[in-house]
Amino acid sequence: MKPLQGEIRVPGDKSIAHRACLVAALAEGDSHIIGFSGGGDNHSTLRVLRGLGVHIEVDAARGVRIQGRGLRGLSAPVDALDCGNSGTTMRLMMGLLAGQRGAFELVGDASLSARPMERVAAPLRRLGARIEMPAGDHPPVRVVGAPLVGSRVETRVASAQVKSACLLAALLASGETTVFEATPTRDHTERMLRHVGVTLHESPGGLRLVPPERLEAREFVVPGDVSSAAFFAGAAALVPGSEVVVRGVGLNPRRVGFLHALREMGASVEWALTPGLAAHDEPVGDLVVRGPATLRGVDISPERVADMVDELPLFACLAAVADGPSVVVGADELRVKETDRISATGALLRALGATVEDTRDGWRFAGNARLTGGAVRVEGDHRLAMCAAVLSRTVTRGPVEIDAPSVASVSFPGFFETLERLG
Ligand code: S3P
Repeated sequence: MKPLQGEIRVPGDKSIAHRACLVAALAEGDSHIIGFSGGGDNHSTLRVLRGLGVHIEVDAARGVRIQGRGLRGLSAPVDALDCGNSGTTMRLMMGLLAGQRGAFELVGDASLSARPMERVAAPLRRLGARIEMPAGDHPPVRVVGAPLVGSRVETRVASAQVKSACLLAALLASGETTVFEATPTRDHTERMLRHVGVTLHESPGGLRLVPPERLEAREFVVPGDVSSAAFFAGAAALVPGSEVVVRGVGLNPRRVGFLHALREMGASVEWALTPGLAAHDEPVGDLVVRGPATLRGVDISPERVADMVDELPLFACLAAVADGPSVVVGADELRVKETDRISATGALLRALGATVEDTRDGWRFAGNARLTGGAVRVEGDHRLAMCAAVLSRTVTRGPVEIDAPSVASVSFPGFFETLERLG
């Protein structure tokens, strides 16, 4: 295969952009978000905020301007709020709306309507939230704004979305809230809340939030999404002689687990932070990945899962063809992502000829697969569509036909063009 060569940028980080929009909507005054990705999920957050009466201007060149409504200024709409395919939108909204005035209904597409929400509702109820889910542990979610009281809450699953929902609700509570998480997860919400003036104290395993009087409107600079950059890092690692540079990418320590795994597999993976590039204390830098002569299999243990949770399907693609066996354990959360990513990724790889066994909480890979081309189903999942494209560009003997390539734009508009640009 022809090596991948070149320098690219990737769209703004989806996780950080969601949070910037929410915090801006609660601030006093106008906030400006630079580097907003334009992906479907982030647009779901804008759509929901508009439904809550927030004035938003989107300009492709200049970014997003949001007129904050103040901490308690959101208005209850008549219609349901459509979160599309975006789990982060729905879960963070549950926290944000819990202490507002009025009743709100959150709905989503077929994939989101099957995803668990009780994991968010349960800790929010400890703060006094009124949340009803007539369909059981699934959307639609009805939030009836209620007075919240600061408390101690624990998140039962390793989930930044659950933690973030609790922190957003705690902004409106009377008294302090301490959130405990069993496993550390991405800390974008914490960094951003501090950026707009919120006091957060850290204790072992816990985060104590002091409810603010107001949030300050600010400028947010969203770095490139490392989860999007990962596809090109993985592609470069699969073809010897490749060298891909990704500029201006977010390198939060809780998001670079895949890059560490790639290094362990034998790829040359280097990054250097650019001082002072991002506001709100997010590390940003340039990433350089070079393809090794061979990749070797590595094992992923449960404590590594949270830091590479969105990259595990991609890791699976690499593990399938790497030299020697690999296993992933402790990744049962993948079963409740946009699709069941354990079985969907396993099926995709088997359709191309890999020897992969799906387990309850991960996979077992024989390694050394020589993949064929062929038709694959990505189950409407953006990350699986991009995985299939990476395999097709780098290792399969014939082309891979993807049933729904356009779903990549949920997180990465322009993905295929960027892949092409690398040769
Ligand atoms: C996200 C957290 C992760 C991740 C998702 C985005 C976030 O989900 O998979 O793509 O922005 O907080 P969980 O919190 O469910 O692990």
